[in-house]
Amino acid sequence: MSHRKTELIPTNTKAAFEAAVERAAAFVLQGHPVALPTETVYGLAANALSPEAVGRVYEAKGRPSNNPLIVHVGSWAMVEQCVERFSPAASSLARAFWPGPLTLVLPKSERIPPEVTAGGQTVAIRWPSHPVMQAVLKTAGVPLAAPSANRSNGLSPTQAHHVLQQLDGRVPLIVDGGHAAVGIESTVVDLVGRPARVLRPGMIHRLSLQAASPDLDWEANESLDRDESVLRSPGQLKHHYAPKARLVLGSWSDSGSLSRLVEAHKVPRRLTSVVAYEGIPDSGGWARVAVIPHDVEAYARALFSELHLCDESGSELIVVEAPPETDEWEGIRDRLGRAAAGGD
Ligand code: TXA
Ligand code: MG
Repeated sequence: MSHRKTELIPTNTKAAFEAAVERAAAFVLQGHPVALPTETVYGLAANALSPEAVGRVYEAKGRPSNNPLIVHVGSWAMVEQCVERFSPAASSLARAFWPGPLTLVLPKSERIPPEVTAGGQTVAIRWPSHPVMQAVLKTAGVPLAAPSANRSNGLSPTQAHHVLQQLDGRVPLIVDGGHAAVGIESTVVDLVGRPARVLRPGMIHRLSLQAASPDLDWEANESLDRDESVLRSPGQLKHHYAPKARLVLGSWSDSGSLSRLVEAHKVPRRLTSVVAYEGIPDSGGWARVAVIPHDVEAYARALFSELHLCDESGSELIVVEAPPETDEWEGIRDRLGRAAAGGD
């Protein structure tokens, strides 16, 4: 569906917040998807119980229909509406991390239409913590199917204007809820098969999951096997998170090695952006230099915004300093790895 005009509305006063929630809930109940803030990234939300509304989400995003959506809930009653069985392991993980950036894949209930799950018998479910999203869930009173609010294959939005850039004219309403506090998409865990599997790493990492559910068997860490993860999580496409510019990961010890790295890609410096946390370039002439804190949470919060800015600067190449190899950086390595595989 195309909307001639997309409205972007604020939530920065009590009255504005309440009005935004009312408008968003009304659109949802009329079957129209709206872009809403969550703590991870902005989502494009529609009534998860309505096949027509869900169809409009795929249409607005240009998303292939074989890629299932995450259903967002705001109460235990909604959880029960959506899932067939909630196992003890699911309960411990939910108690530890909900509301928050964790998505659980569980057997779906009959209420959830096949359009949400790409025809499958499982549903991905998450209880988000963002106050706007929670208020819309409560006011609309229905679970919300919401993928990230970007065009298919685009970079996920962490600010309202990123949504506007990609979905202007394609959705009636964008609610501005500020900069997403987590900054990368939720950790997706499959609890249907045994052992449990991380389908998409995020800021709740493996060790935290294991600590919260000590009795659960976890699959060994093999997340670097991209082809396997494509088969396991439908729609976990290799190039899912790509900026427009070509992105390469690299390490450099000084300006000389950074220059050699860039020269190898045959793009002039003025069309190249550098994203660094330690290896800050000591000379100028770049399209953009972004220095992101070397702290995993601060880095995640800043990453997509910086990549959006690199794209806006007209860069053809983005050189990103390779992040650390430790567990807590796994979600960030995953997104950067996919972005680096983009365009192939
Ligand atoms: O943080 C997030 O999860 C954001 C915000 C808006 O909540 N949403 C998000 O949705 O990232 P999306 O559609 O961009 O990513 C959903 C991921 C995809 O990788 C999809 O394949 C996987 O979840 N997924 C959804 N349903 C699934 C299912 N039944 N089984 C396995 N994977 C599933
Ligand atoms: Mg997405």
